[in-house]
Amino acid sequence: MAVKSLLLSGLIAAASASPCPNTPRSYPTNATSNPSQKLADPNYGPKPGESRIFSTYTGVDPPFPAYLKDPVIPTKFGAPGIDDQVWQNLLSAEWIIFSFYQKAVEMFNTTAFVEAGYPNNTYERVQSIRDNEAGHLRIFQNQISATSIKPGACEYTFPFDDPISFLALTTVLEISSMAFLTGLVESAQLPASHAAMVAIAEVETRHEVWSLINIRAEDPFSGPADTVYPYANQILDTTNAYVVPGSCPSLNPEYPSPRQGLPLLSAAAGTKSLTPGSTITLAFPTGAPAFEAGKQYYAVFFHAVENISVPIDTSNPKAISVTIPAAFETKGVIVACLADEKDAPTKESVVAGPAVILEQPAALAPALI
Ligand SMILES: *[C@@H]1O[C@H](CO)[C@@H](O)[C@H](O)[C@H]1NC(C)=O
Ligand SMILES: *[C@@H]1O[C@H](CO)[C@@H](O)[C@H](O)[C@H]1NC(C)=O
Ligand SMILES: *[C@@H]1O[C@H](CO)[C@@H](O)[C@H](O)[C@H]1NC(C)=O
Repeated sequence: MAVKSLLLSGLIAAASASPCPNTPRSYPTNATSNPSQKLADPNYGPKPGESRIFSTYTGVDPPFPAYLKDPVIPTKFGAPGIDDQVWQNLLSAEWIIFSFYQKAVEMFNTTAFVEAGYPNNTYERVQSIRDNEAGHLRIFQNQISATSIKPGACEYTFPFDDPISFLALTTVLEISSMAFLTGLVESAQLPASHAAMVAIAEVETRHEVWSLINIRAEDPFSGPADTVYPYANQILDTTNAYVVPGSCPSLNPEYPSPRQGLPLLSAAAGTKSLTPGSTITLAFPTGAPAFEAGKQYYAVFFHAVENISVPIDTSNPKAISVTIPAAFETKGVIVACLADEKDAPTKESVVAGPAVILEQPAALAPALI
């Protein structure tokens, strides 16, 4: 313990002398006594893949490690691990997703789902998904090396108040997770990180497939490929809508890092259909981007491993209409952004969005705008 405290006070001095872009400049001197700090030891507590609490714990209270909500400060001084920033982004995203399911576990019970017309094992499945997400918290904490901070939980707010609106949002969150994980694989450098991210994306896919079969009675298959959107942090940024402003621990790194803070993109209120071939009017819930007069902008639609650019007229940002490419199959998701270059070749070319457009079940999509 004494050695650890010494190491930490050394860290505080060294970190403030030479700030590293990946870690905050100073840490509270009482950090070693914070219960969350026990999580710095990867062997502390139950292990995902070994303990059933990450699969079949049926309690209402948050499982390990979710009741330890504070950031875990570094226990070693040195350069950050190669993929630490990607895992920090994922851990911050996971706190949102875990909290979404935890809220549902606390709010509903078996009867609530049965009365809403869903199968009698729905609550049990939701608990299992919540448990899997707790396992992801622990896996991501352990992927971040001891030289980098492990982000803690913020406070969140989710737009559901009954089983129906909760399960609709589940579909969107799971499919968004699949899409941003695919992009994050491109951001990570180590082969072991790539494999771990694919393993997590596969589990999110199982959750999605369960909901398509059991909740929606839909065809579970999304065609030959799910959607690749290369700028994963832009999708992560849109999940900041669920974070209560100012509620994050001050030691947390910015989420996501780096953050572009692009204007949000959606379809105008009253949009009836978002299937391929539909012409829609765009809306900017947080304000329109500063379009340059005379410059050509594009709505770029990503589906499976393809993208299609559609030129748009931005002379009146309140009345931009665009047709979702009819060429795309009505399957999985389409991810759309606005860009100042055809094909959105760089993340800097994106000026608004992205918006994740649900195509399966397509009937749910307009209700979620
Ligand atoms: C579920 O919650 C409702 C309302 O809070 C309660 O009346 C009911 O007894 C609960 N059912 C079970 C199985 O716990
Ligand atoms: C749950 O539903 C299944 C299938 O409809 C049924 O066979 C089973 O008896 C039900 N279980 C309970 C506890 O109601
Ligand atoms: C969009 O597709 C084109 C090929 O049609 C490809 O060159 C380009 O890299 C793709 N854009 C992105 C951002 O993946």
